[in-house]
Formats: sequence, structure tokens, C-alpha cells
Amino acid sequence: MSSIGLQTAIGRWAGLGPYYAMFPVDFAFNVVAEFTRPGDAVLDPFAGRASSIYAAGACSRSGLGIEINPVGWLYGRVKVSPATRGRVLKRLEQLGEMALSVDVQPPEDTGEFFTRCYSPRVLSFLTVCRDRLRWREGKVDGTLMAIMLVYLHGKRSASLSNQMRQGKAMSPDYSVRWWQERGLEPPEVDPVEFLRQRIEWRYAKGTPKLSSAKVILGDSRTEVQRLSRMLADGRIRDFDLLFTSPPYCGVTNYHADQWLRLWMLGGPPRPVSGDGFSRGRFCARDQYLELLTKVFGGCAELLNRDATIYVRTDARPFTFEATLDTLQTAFPGKSLAIRSRPYLRETQTALFGDNAHKPGEMDIILT
Ligand SMILES: C[S@@+](CC[C@H](N)C(=O)[O-])C[C@H]1O[C@@H](n2cnc3c(N)ncnc32)[C@H](O)[C@@H]1O
Repeated sequence: MSSIGLQTAIGRWAGLGPYYAMFPVDFAFNVVAEFTRPGDAVLDPFAGRASSIYAAGACSRSGLGIEINPVGWLYGRVKVSPATRGRVLKRLEQLGEMALSVDVQPPEDTGEFFTRCYSPRVLSFLTVCRDRLRWREGKVDGTLMAIMLVYLHGKRSASLSNQMRQGKAMSPDYSVRWWQERGLEPPEVDPVEFLRQRIEWRYAKGTPKLSSAKVILGDSRTEVQRLSRMLADGRIRDFDLLFTSPPYCGVTNYHADQWLRLWMLGGPPRPVSGDGFSRGRFCARDQYLELLTKVFGGCAELLNRDATIYVRTDARPFTFEATLDTLQTAFPGKSLAIRSRPYLRETQTALFGDNAHKPGEMDIILT
């Protein structure tokens, strides 16, 4: 087992950024090292913040990920290929100057949430960045936006917001009540200086040089089919390792839980749940099975005969059994090993009185 510290560029960029149910970085590197050789190709159809793909690219393998949530996708795209430090800092200064000359109002019909979450100076800056940053197309704008998303909410002393969890944005009403009860005002921060320091820290060891790594923003149900056609045309090669973690049935809503970061990326100024098939909580069991069947079935077309399948999933019965069944159907004739992950690790308990436990996880390995 190796450990990726923060003393190298690879280690520093690996942690970008906070995401629910993310792989620990060391775990991603260890799986890639154990199940592939240099030159091999890794596929992750539920990439999240793309640690699997990043680990592949950092270890002389190639990686291709697919992610439907723009927050996870942007972290992934930026960490595999960040813009240069100088250009990101210049863009930050530019936006800081623009923010000084505009009069920004909080988003309409959002009650007190935005004015209690952010100081007027921070809110002006965020609004200007939200309007101007072309994060989807531009490398510099994408890098700056990804770094901003990391600090958009979190501990009062370490983020741009009033006290919040870093991994998950709470609902607006709940947050306002919570701040009111404790008399917590938004922190007075100079957003440009705050971000400049964080950018300097991120770049202090340089930028990662990866062999080949890419993350597609899209729906795996259709993307795996597109990749299949590309494989048939010889435009891509087949894969040696399927390394992924699907959404867990009924556990989290990746879109509603990231609503504030999604607002920053141009989305609505409030949580929206159940917005589309792959954006809800995956409560409907038949739809969940259909998602896994379609995606794993499509991946089977992309893997070579000797490929390994490594899937981390929820230990709770329905998700675990659905994942195991769909994998064994998609990849018949492989031998099965199951590793269990230590049960019940506490998450950020102190903030918002959240005593939730991380559910136990199981790793399904087919070779
Ligand atoms: C358990 S998380 C993966 C976390 C990831 N291993 C990491 O380290 O960040 C599952 C991911 O699947 C994504 N997802 C759900 N449905 C999808 C779909 N149809 N296509 C692509 N991604 C999807 C979710 O947005 C979520 O980011």
C-alpha cells in the first residue's frame, strides 16, 4: 500500500475537490497499481471527481471517465490538465476588478440565504465569476472555477461562506435557521486575496504531468454506446480495467446535495431534486437496475477479454445485490472476489449536528 502525500504536484492536485462518496486518493492509486500494468487503459463510467482516471494517468496508464454531474466533471477535467498558475492568477485579478465596479443583488426569491451565507463583497465577486467564467469551454476559466468551488462552502474560517459542511450544501431554510440560532454572520473575506493564497498553495509543487487522462461530461447510458462505435471504428483502444463506483440506491442525491456549487455553475439558486433520471436519489429500484444494466452491459463491449472489473459499492442489500447481479450478467465467466471495507466511518459530525455515518462499502472484483 502506497500513500500519496501533499509534497508532490501529483499529490496536491489529486485531492481536488470535495465530493460526496468520493474514493480516497490512496485507494484509487492502490487499485490501479494492483490491477493494471503501465500502458494499460482504465475506464470509469461513474467517475465523480475522477480519482480513478487521475490515478491511471499519474501511473503511466491511460484513463477515460464519464460523469453526469458538472461539479464532479469539472474537478476531474481540471485535475488531469490544469491551466498555468500565471494565467489563473491573472484571470482572478481581472474578475476581482470587475466585481468592484458592479452593484450586485442576491438572486431573486431566495429569502435571506445568500446574504446570510456570503458578505456583500464575496457575493458580488461570486456573481461576477458566475456570469463571466466560461468554465465549460476554457482551461483557465475552468481551473479558476474548480478552485473556487472547493472553497465555495465549508468551515467559516476556511471558506468563502458562513459555516457549512464542505461536502454537501444544506437546504437554504435550514441553513438560515441554523445561522440565526447561533448568531453567525457571513465572514468578511477579501475573496481575491483568499483565493490567491489557495491557488498559490495548489501550484506550489507544480502541475501534474499525466500520460493520458480524460473525463467526458455526459450520461454513461449513451456515452458507452458512443465509445463502442469509436472502438469499432478503431478510434479508441479497448480497456483493461473497469474501475468505478455507481451511485448508491436511495442514499444521496448528487445534484441536490451540490446545489450551491451547481448554482455557481449557472444552475438555479435553490436545491432541485429528482431533476431527471440520473439526478435524483435513485430510489426507484427498477430504474436503478436499468441504469446499472445499461451501463455495465455497455462497458462489457469496451473491455478486452482479460480485463478486470473493480467496483466499490454500498454494503446495504439492495444496492449490493443489484450491483453484483448486473456485473455478473454483464461479465459472465469471470471469477469473483469480494472485499469489505471497515463499517461505519464517521463523517463531519460537528457541523450542523450531523451524526450521519458513512455507509459500509463492499468491493466487487471480477477477474
Ligand atoms: C459513488 S459516485 C462516484 C464517486 C467517484 N468514485 C469519486 O471518487 O468521486 C457516483 C457518480 O455517478 C454519477 N452518475 C450517476 N448517474 C450517471 C450517469 N447516468 N452517467 C454518468 N454518471 C452518472 C453521479 O453523478 C456520481 O458522481
